[in-house]
Amino acid sequence: MTLRTPICDLLGIEFPVFLAGMGGISFAELCAAVSEAGGFGTLGAAASSPEEIRSQMREVRRLTDKPFGVDLLAALPETLEASAEVIIEEGASAFIAGLGIPRTVLARFHEADVKVFSMCGRVEHARAAADAGCDAVVAQGTEAGGHTGRVAGMALIPQIVDAVDIPVLAAGSIVDGRGLAAALAFGADGIWMGTRFVAAREARAAESYKKAILEAGSSDTIVTRCYSGKTMRVLRNAYVDEWADRTDEILPFPEQSALSYREGVMNLSLDNYEEMDPNRSCMPTGQGCGRIDDLPPAGEIVRRVVEQACQTLARMQALVVEPAGRDRP
Ligand SMILES: Cc1cc2nc3c(=O)[nH]c(=O)nc-3n(C[C@H](O)[C@H](O)[C@H](O)COP(=O)(O)O)c2cc1C
Repeated sequence: MTLRTPICDLLGIEFPVFLAGMGGISFAELCAAVSEAGGFGTLGAAASSPEEIRSQMREVRRLTDKPFGVDLLAALPETLEASAEVIIEEGASAFIAGLGIPRTVLARFHEADVKVFSMCGRVEHARAAADAGCDAVVAQGTEAGGHTGRVAGMALIPQIVDAVDIPVLAAGSIVDGRGLAAALAFGADGIWMGTRFVAAREARAAESYKKAILEAGSSDTIVTRCYSGKTMRVLRNAYVDEWADRTDEILPFPEQSALSYREGVMNLSLDNYEEMDPNRSCMPTGQGCGRIDDLPPAGEIVRRVVEQACQTLARMQALVVEPAGRDRP
């Protein structure tokens, strides 16, 4: 059994399972492993220069000939246009804007036949992205790891599906095939998974961070602005608690991020990422962490999710029965 939705045809992929473009985590090896397994790998290039993006993209191409995408924070315009040219030249199938609608580069991507997706935490954001010409949106509920909004996925995803006529990917604490089946039930076209893939063998994350995810329960995450200046869901630790009474001192994005780098608590994208201190460092994590208890290869995660979604959908189909005791015509 397999599972196919229209976004699979749009991108030429087998399964509607997307690796979130996590800055500092979704590097070439993880991205290629997801694409190679039939899902859609996305490089998390938020903290990368155009030349770093080029070399990561070439590495993905060396590892797989399947389609993949690149995610950047469109809210940081300094290098956006130069990065867009690299993303086009090196053959990405999709560009995903992590923060904001990438209005300045949208037409250029379309001219080069690169699809453009936008991350959305509110219905209005999704409507604006569709009106601007984006090809798909990611509806990300507050339960998601990383920068996140305030609306729960259960409320947000079906409302965004109703509000736009482009494909919707569901995001936020989806860690298994039941989550994929639920997303499809809401009318989404697929899933965009972050935290589950942080706990994958190929993820470039500190062993202490992966271990912390395996040990965490759903109540161990918290939304804070203390790392970047924008609301971000992370594993709660002593550093987050220190800021809890000083929220008025938190600087706006991206100045607070710069402060966090100076404080040595933003280790994800650095070369010495293994040296992170779980008591102080930023560990973006979704509430779905409570259901994650192993570190499999990313391809196995993709296969498991698809298989379990098929079983779940078949089980749900079997629930649809003729009412008992009613005479058939
Ligand atoms: C470690 C980490 C880093 C992230 N970095 C980015 C990023 O750079 N750009 C982006 O669009 N989203 C980023 N996100 C959010 C993801 O794209 C995704 O929406 C989220 O992980 C989904 O929720 P989940 O983690 O519960 O699966 C990040 C998430 C995590 C966990």
